[in-house]
Amino acid sequence: MSSSSVMQKIVALSKRRGFVFQASELYGGLNGFWDYGPLGVLLKNNIRDAWWRAMVLSPPIGPDGNPLSIVGLDTAIIQHPQTWVASGHAQGFSDPMVDCHESKGRYRADQLVVFDVPAEKGGEKITLRIAAVAADDAEESVLKRAQKLARAAGGRPAKVDKLDPPVVYTALNAEEQKIVYGPDASAPGTLTEPRQFNLMFESYAGALKDESNKVYLRPETAQGIFLDFKNVLDSSRVKVPFGIAQIGKSFRNEVNPRNFVFRSREFEQMEMEFFCSPEDSRKWYEFWVQARLDWWLGLGVKKESLKIRHHDADELAFYSTATADIEYAYPFTAPDYGELEGVAHRGAYDLTQHQNHSKTKLEYFDQEKNLRYIPHVIEPAAGLTRALLVLLCEAYTFDEKRASPEILNLHPKMAPIKAGIFPLVDKDGMPETAHALYMDLRKKYVCQYDAKQAIGKRYARMDEAGTPYCVTVDGETAKDQTVTVRDRTTGNQERVSLDAVPRFLAERLDS
Ligand code: GAP
Repeated sequence: MSSSSVMQKIVALSKRRGFVFQASELYGGLNGFWDYGPLGVLLKNNIRDAWWRAMVLSPPIGPDGNPLSIVGLDTAIIQHPQTWVASGHAQGFSDPMVDCHESKGRYRADQLVVFDVPAEKGGEKITLRIAAVAADDAEESVLKRAQKLARAAGGRPAKVDKLDPPVVYTALNAEEQKIVYGPDASAPGTLTEPRQFNLMFESYAGALKDESNKVYLRPETAQGIFLDFKNVLDSSRVKVPFGIAQIGKSFRNEVNPRNFVFRSREFEQMEMEFFCSPEDSRKWYEFWVQARLDWWLGLGVKKESLKIRHHDADELAFYSTATADIEYAYPFTAPDYGELEGVAHRGAYDLTQHQNHSKTKLEYFDQEKNLRYIPHVIEPAAGLTRALLVLLCEAYTFDEKRASPEILNLHPKMAPIKAGIFPLVDKDGMPETAHALYMDLRKKYVCQYDAKQAIGKRYARMDEAGTPYCVTVDGETAKDQTVTVRDRTTGNQERVSLDAVPRFLAERLDS
C-alpha cells in the first residue's frame, strides 16, 4: 500500500471510530483545528498520563542512582505580553509566506516547490514554472496542471513522464519568482514576495480592543514555566538540578497546517525545563536525549521508526549549544523522518531574558558552593497531539488475511479500551455472567460490554479500536467456569478461568 493511501486509511479510521474529527465539520471545517473523539480522548489521556508519570510522579533515575526531582505546573495560556518580547517570540516567531492575488491562497514560501515544465508554443520550446505545496504527489499534480496551463498560454505541453527535481520558491530571485504559476493560479506572476508572518494568535484582554490590551495565545507552554521559576523555587524544596513539567494547549497560526494533526493551529505540548548548573549541562543534555528516546520505545514505537537528528551548527538558535530532534518515520515523510520531539540545550537564555525584562533576579543560590548563578536549561519538548498521530501510524496494520483487515496494534497500556466483554450469544445465562464480569472489571479498566451482532463483527470492532483483549463467555462457561480470551495482535484464543481474568489483565496492563 502506498504511503498516501496508508495515511488516507488512518484518517478514515480515525473519523469512523471516533479518534479524531475535523473541528467545526458541521460548518465545513476549520483548517488546522481538530476534535478528539471518544476513543481519541482516551488515547490522548493515556499518553498524557504516561508522560506525567515518567516526568513528575516517578521521574527517571539520574546518573548518580538517585531519582530526579521534577515538579508539575499548570500555567495560564495568556500571559503578560512582555513575556513574548523577552522570549523573542514577538520579534522572531514567524514564517515566510506568500499570498496569491488570484486564488487568495496563502502558502509558506519555504514549503513551495517550483518545477520547470517543458512546453511548446508556435514551434518554439518554452518552460512553464509551476509551483506546488511540497508533498509526495506534488510532481504528479504539476504534470496534470501543466496540460491546462500550457493550452491557456497558447501552446501545448511537451511529452514528459519525469520532471527535473524542483527548487524551493525562496531559492529563486525576485525576477524569477515573478513568472511562477502559484499552486492554485491560472496565470503566472500572481504570487506576492515572501513576507514574514508572526505565528502568534492575538486577542484582547478586557473590554477595550486597543494596543494596550493586546495579548497572545501562548505558542509554547515553556515560557509559563520560566515565569514561575522563582515561585517554584520559593514555594517548593527543590534544589538544582531539578525540573518543572507542564502539559497543555499551545496555539500557532501556522500558514500551512497539514498532514492531519501533525501541524495544527491548536495542539497540545508536553514540555519539561530541567534546570542545572552550567558545568553539568552537557551531561544532562545527553542524559535527556537518551531518556526521551527510551520513553518512546517504551510506548511501543519501534526502534527503526525513530531516529535522533542532531542539529547542525547553522540550525541552532544563537543561545543553544546543542539540540536534537527525535524524529519518526511518518507515512507522509517516508522514506524520510519528521519531528516528534525536540531536546534543546537552551543555556541561560530564557531566565536571563526574563530577568532583564522584568528587572527581577532569577538566580539560584547554591548553598554548598556559596555560589549564585542563573541555571542552564535542558528542554525536552514533545507534542501530545503529534504523539497521538505517531501511535496511530505505528499501530495501524492492514492484514488481508484477516476477516476484518484493519487493526490498531496499540501498546496495551496505551489502548483506549483495555478489554471487550462479550456473551457469545445473548441468551442461556451468558449475558448475565458476561455483564457481571464487566461490572467487576470496569472498576479498574476501561472495558466495553457488547452483545450485539455476530462475534466476528464484535472482534473486528475491537481490533479497529485497538482493544488488546476480548473476553467471551460461551456455552462452556457455565460448565467449567472458564472463558475465552482473544489476543488482538495474534488473533489467538486461550481458555482462562473466569475468576482469573482480573489477574490476566493486571499482569499485562499494570506492570
Ligand atoms: N518550547 C520549545 C518548543 O515549543 P517546538 O519544536 O516548536 O519547541 C515542540 O515544539 C513540539 O511541539 C514539536 O516537536 C511538536 O511535537 C509539537 N508541535 C510544534 N508545533 C506543532 C503544531 N503546529 N502542531 C502540532 N504539534 C506541534
